[in-house]
Amino acid sequence: MWSLKLSNLLAATALIPFLSTATPLVERNAVSRRDGVIAPKFVIVSMFEPEAAVWWGIDEFDLLAQNITLPGLSPLFPEVHCTANGEICQVVTGESEINAASTMSAFVLSPKFDLTKSYFMVAGIAGVNPKVATLASVTFARYAVQVALQYEFDYRDLPDNYTTGYIPYNTDNPADCPEEAYGTEVFETNLALRDIAIDLASSAALNDTATAQAYRAKYAPEAAYTAGSQGPSVLGCDVATSDVYYSGTHLSEAFENTTRIWTNGSGVYCTTAQEDNASLEVILRATRMNLTDYNRVIVMRTASDFDRPPPGISEIQNLLFVDQGGFPPAIKNIYLAGIKVVQGVLDGWDSTFEKGITPTNYVGDIFATLGGTPDFGQKSFLITKKRALAAANEQGNLRMRRAMHSAKRRAAAAEALGIEV
Ligand SMILES: *[C@@H]1O[C@H](CO)[C@@H](O)[C@H](O)[C@H]1NC(C)=O
Ligand SMILES: *[C@@H]1O[C@H](CO)[C@@H](O)[C@H](O)[C@H]1NC(C)=O
Ligand SMILES: *[C@@H]1O[C@H](CO)[C@@H](O)[C@H](O)[C@H]1NC(C)=O
Ligand SMILES: *[C@@H]1O[C@H](CO)[C@@H](O)[C@H](O)[C@H]1NC(C)=O
Ligand SMILES: *[C@@H]1O[C@H](CO)[C@@H](O)[C@H](O)[C@H]1NC(C)=O
Ligand SMILES: *[C@@H]1O[C@H](CO)[C@@H](O)[C@H](O)[C@H]1NC(C)=O
Repeated sequence: MWSLKLSNLLAATALIPFLSTATPLVERNAVSRRDGVIAPKFVIVSMFEPEAAVWWGIDEFDLLAQNITLPGLSPLFPEVHCTANGEICQVVTGESEINAASTMSAFVLSPKFDLTKSYFMVAGIAGVNPKVATLASVTFARYAVQVALQYEFDYRDLPDNYTTGYIPYNTDNPADCPEEAYGTEVFETNLALRDIAIDLASSAALNDTATAQAYRAKYAPEAAYTAGSQGPSVLGCDVATSDVYYSGTHLSEAFENTTRIWTNGSGVYCTTAQEDNASLEVILRATRMNLTDYNRVIVMRTASDFDRPPPGISEIQNLLFVDQGGFPPAIKNIYLAGIKVVQGVLDGWDSTFEKGITPTNYVGDIFATLGGTPDFGQKSFLITKKRALAAANEQGNLRMRRAMHSAKRRAAAAEALGIEV
């Protein structure tokens, strides 16, 4: 773990751009390209059956024309599906971070595919923040934030002055930026491409249901929840990733804060799901080896249920007992909005998309694995601050002390490379 972080740090400085392990992968890719493998222009990433099945049996294309079995896919979804001409494919990851990461790794490393020019669209449902959007809305993320990558206490075990049980690594205050980074905390995608996707999806007539309309209306009395009480729309806002399916006002507000703080104030938490950072990490690692193009990633999430209740409904009712009515239209809108994006990219392939959409924002992770400078506060993530080094020196339990030693080593490495700590 420590050496991995150190190599990431070194890579971030661009002094050692590529690790020696690059060669076999690249060779394998070159070989696979000679074999005339499938080179999709568009890859739909679904997480589970309902998200996947909404793309099957449609008029526009037949994703079940080819099924390609790969080692390493989910036992529930052991095949990649592709159209007969291979232009459009679908991979179904299975749910949660581990499934997303392992399935996507198997896919991007497979010699049966050439993904160097593929557009990837994560297309799934998600919980939704009523301060930003509503049931059945279609959202496109700039940031994906792995919000639960923190210490966690049961709230009841903390003093009264804590507002949440989640505390960023190597800090003692929920409002601090983490001072220890695993590297997957924040991903930033290509904003120019995201905005094109929003334009394309905006031409869709979204599905809605009477049940969803009735539940939405309950949010109207709370001024902060105006967006939640209005009809569904297509919009840009950010996604949280957490294996824990959290719910309720306290946790949702805590992760609103996490998203804002970890993106230096620029991220707006609006949806919650369990996979995106994992899928993004895989695509990003593969980009580093020229197997994929991370600039071609779109994260679309449609809203299936509110992350917190409206006035008059309890926290537990909202998640476990009430029928919010958002699931059917959210599934439907994956297709209705997503098809516009797929068609837009294919229709504009020769003129625009084959050569790619040049990003105008920083694109990548907090380690700057793909180069550039993160615009969301890299240093506080990457290098432990002097204050924390001094304060926590040799205090805390064994694991915290080890984290401190690791941080010291990274700080020393950074200083040796001329980076101000
Ligand atoms: C691909 O798999 C699906 C089931 O997942 C099946 O319905 C379809 O017929 C298969 N396609 C081919 C060409 O075998
Ligand atoms: C809570 O109060 C304690 C004792 O004054 C202090 O050490 C700690 O930093 C405070 N925590 C927060 C999150 O404010
Ligand atoms: C939403 O989809 C359902 C199920 O297909 C359909 O009955 C309903 O008419 C659709 N509503 C709208 C507003 O498109
Ligand atoms: C979120 O941050 C705000 C502003 O700093 C703070 O007032 C609030 O208590 C925080 N909420 C939680 C749940 O931590
Ligand atoms: C990836 O492509 C770039 C640009 O063509 C090249 O400089 C770099 O060496 C390649 N990296 C790997 C790991 O093959
Ligand atoms: C964080 O945001 C502040 C205020 O907008 C800005 O001055 C600063 O440059 C940002 N930090 C980074 C690393 O971009």
